[in-house]
Amino acid sequence: MKMITRPDALQQTCLECKKNKRIGLVPTMGYFHEGHLSLMDWTRKHCDVLVVSLFVNPSQFGPGEDLAAYPRDKERDIRLAREHGADILFIPQAGSMYAANHATWVEVPELAKGLCGRTRPVHFRGVATVVTKLFNLVQPEVAVFGEKDRQQLAIIKRMVRDLNMPVRVEGRPIVRESDGLALSSRNAYLTPEERAQAPALYAGLCAASGWIANGMRGISELLAGITAYYAEHLPAGRLDYFEVVDPESMQPVHMVEDAVILAVAMRMGRARLIDNILVESSVGSAGERKGEKG
Ligand code: PAJ
Repeated sequence: MKMITRPDALQQTCLECKKNKRIGLVPTMGYFHEGHLSLMDWTRKHCDVLVVSLFVNPSQFGPGEDLAAYPRDKERDIRLAREHGADILFIPQAGSMYAANHATWVEVPELAKGLCGRTRPVHFRGVATVVTKLFNLVQPEVAVFGEKDRQQLAIIKRMVRDLNMPVRVEGRPIVRESDGLALSSRNAYLTPEERAQAPALYAGLCAASGWIANGMRGISELLAGITAYYAEHLPAGRLDYFEVVDPESMQPVHMVEDAVILAVAMRMGRARLIDNILVESSVGSAGERKGEKG
């Protein structure tokens, strides 16, 4: 595995590789867990060259967010990337990704304003911009992202389509703990009591999916049901949002008619956890559970 720290060196190396090999890119902020590793494993299998980037991107953190505290373990990450077949691990030197007078931003406001964008107004602009920079540096044939961050995935897909970026965006299923909690680097912030309640976040989504399968169609009914569910099973959490949105536009629907995404964000102590499931209109909660388990 080659470690690269300079953006221009990454671009040179990838331009060379690209001539006769299919490059797959997995962008990350490190502190690897099975979710990240599943993206690497998939890419390893489907591409000739696996490039993993590890960069805690400052521009996607708002003031007062957890940029400084974001969990890091560089040595472990290097070992895991190697074990999972990365050919190139890009860990940019601090300050090398953004010039002091960096002034160009990529935005997809229509998809970024709702859900997480409501409380994190600069987040998706930072994500779209850094992902564009990584695409320009690596020029991958395929870039792989997790459905855990469903709004991020929708934004990147739209950006790629709207700007004719020559890359295929692949979304991969959420990897969960055996109790259902979606893996996240931020789970490290949970106290033991919070961790014990956290699986209820996904269980609530599965319950709501079951209500839909049994005929519930109204958004206010779903919201009332899930609010009561979390009050009972997740008292340590403070609901940030629960929304029922269209899978492509990520806009709220007025009624469950077609496939929808149930998306939730919950504050628990220092952590803010997000989760989501896709509910196909004809598929019940049993199908969802099976389909979503990684
Ligand atoms: P990070 O949170 O490190 O996540 C890197 C990738 O791993 C993302 O595509 C994310 O959706 C995926 N991922 C996280 N948890 C997952 C899980 N439980 N199952 C499957 N995939 C999971 O997302 C980012 O970094 C950044 O915003 C980034 C795209 C790198 C831009 O800075």
